[in-house]
Amino acid sequence: MQNRPRRNRKNQTIRNFVSENKVEVGNLIQPLFVLEGENIKKPIESMPGQFRFSLDNLLAEVEELLSLGVQTIALFPAIDEDKKDSRGTWSRKKENINLKSIQAIKEKFPEMMVMGDIALDPYSSDGHDGVVNHDTGEILNDETLPILAEMAVCQAQAGVDIVGPSDMMDGRIGTIRRTLDGSGFKNVSIMSYTAKYASAFYGPFRDALDSAPKFGDKKTYQMDPANSREALREALLDIEEGADMLMVKPAMAYLDIISKLKENTHLPIAAYQVSGEYAMLNAAAQNGWLDLDQVRDESLLSIKRAGADIILTYFAKEFAKKA
Ligand code: PBG
Repeated sequence: MQNRPRRNRKNQTIRNFVSENKVEVGNLIQPLFVLEGENIKKPIESMPGQFRFSLDNLLAEVEELLSLGVQTIALFPAIDEDKKDSRGTWSRKKENINLKSIQAIKEKFPEMMVMGDIALDPYSSDGHDGVVNHDTGEILNDETLPILAEMAVCQAQAGVDIVGPSDMMDGRIGTIRRTLDGSGFKNVSIMSYTAKYASAFYGPFRDALDSAPKFGDKKTYQMDPANSREALREALLDIEEGADMLMVKPAMAYLDIISKLKENTHLPIAAYQVSGEYAMLNAAAQNGWLDLDQVRDESLLSIKRAGADIILTYFAKEFAKKA
């Protein structure tokens, strides 16, 4: 035999030598959930190890993450039902827990990068990411854009480092970029949820925020899982409109999309290992069917190998502990 690939695997040292990819804590973003109240750390049943924090406990969590080397969080608020309306008005009120939390974190821990979520669903009485026409059920694209831009400005005023539009309205990146620049926030970054699929893997997240659509589904704005060329179309538009980073979501069932965007664009690529991915690995581990540490590391590595520079993952803290 001329070639014996196994020689490059014969011991750990040589395997380290030829290893092509490595996940580092600096690549990871920890999503966190916040709610109104005091001294609350409410477990999310379908996401073992994840919680809804009141602001006091959220600050403690942020401090712990920093001490572990996790330097970016993505913040998602759980909003009381009586604060929701069809235009998500509460999302732009200074007193809301999202804006209060961004401000408090940046005041106390300026070195923690905070990414804010831009979409109406946590604040929407319809549970949709945009404004709904109640006669037709249509999710209104152009009516939603100025609301998203206003949300971005409110979060920028609170001190956010990155905004993450997760709504999938057409033209939102351009509208948000122009509005941020016009309001003096040229340095707030945009991580676009570029290729966000209409996925059933978001189930546990919607339970956590109580934000599931009250009618219908999100298929008129989120992408069809059957499509990959369309992801490139979305990417080219986001680049043209001024996105700084492109995201693919979910991650594990969409590794081909991560690769495609990596190979066909020059922007940093992020991937979101979503709630359902986290839930299924944990559920299997709880049954003794998978080894959680190993599948966590392997799944993150596969996302990195596919081309993700940045990974949003509920495993960030645990990964950092073991790193
Ligand atoms: C909504 C939003 C969702 C997630 C992040 N932002 C759910 C949805 O689109 O319904 C999902 C994240 C996860 O499942 O971990 N704008």
